[in-house]
Amino acid sequence: MDPKPPAPRAVLFDAYGTLFDVYSVGLAAEQLFPGAGERLAQLWRDKQIEYTRLCSMSGRYQPFWALTEAALQFSAERLGLKLTPPGQQRLMNEYRHLSAFPENHAVLAELKRRGIRAGILSNGDPTMLAVAVKSAGLSELIDPVLSVHETQRFKTDPAAYAIGPAALGLAPREILFVSSNGWDAVGATWYGFTTLWVNRMGLPAERLGTEPTRTGRSLRDVLDFFPS
Ligand code: LAC
Repeated sequence: MDPKPPAPRAVLFDAYGTLFDVYSVGLAAEQLFPGAGERLAQLWRDKQIEYTRLCSMSGRYQPFWALTEAALQFSAERLGLKLTPPGQQRLMNEYRHLSAFPENHAVLAELKRRGIRAGILSNGDPTMLAVAVKSAGLSELIDPVLSVHETQRFKTDPAAYAIGPAALGLAPREILFVSSNGWDAVGATWYGFTTLWVNRMGLPAERLGTEPTRTGRSLRDVLDFFPS
């Protein structure tokens, strides 16, 4: 671990998988499709991100909610699962109302106590982010909620990350960007943010020649960047 990282002045969190626990989506998928829920949830997530990259690279933006739904339909068909309209609605609803990880509330409250501004910078579109923040009970602790929607570009496009410094009036390195997605942590590091990869699952690091500023295992590791 770097003993003397630059001191950031604000935090921006990735949303899905970082602040919001998508595990419940896998559970609901398993209930609908016993024995195939985990595979469906995994393929769904991968396809969702693949679609963001395809649309972004080709200048064919569609909101994250629409791509999430399209990815679900593709993934179910790919696995030979019969996804009925009520089944689809149930899974999408699960996605809409995710819980926060258990440590989040305390970490965000502590950042607030230390006077550190903490927001979101996500591929999610503004409506789905607003609902997610509210249903996870984090409205009082998160500000601002930034969506890539206005740029019509998804992360890891630098234009998407650039919303953060513009909104906070800070240089990229003065912002700690936190993500549980290894690719997002690398993209944000390339962009110039100070970064923390919250590697909850103990996954291998991306092999792209760039490492996040730090790697941790839970959101609590955010607090180590700031004097108490
Ligand atoms: C997000 C996805 C990538 O919130 O997790 O941007």
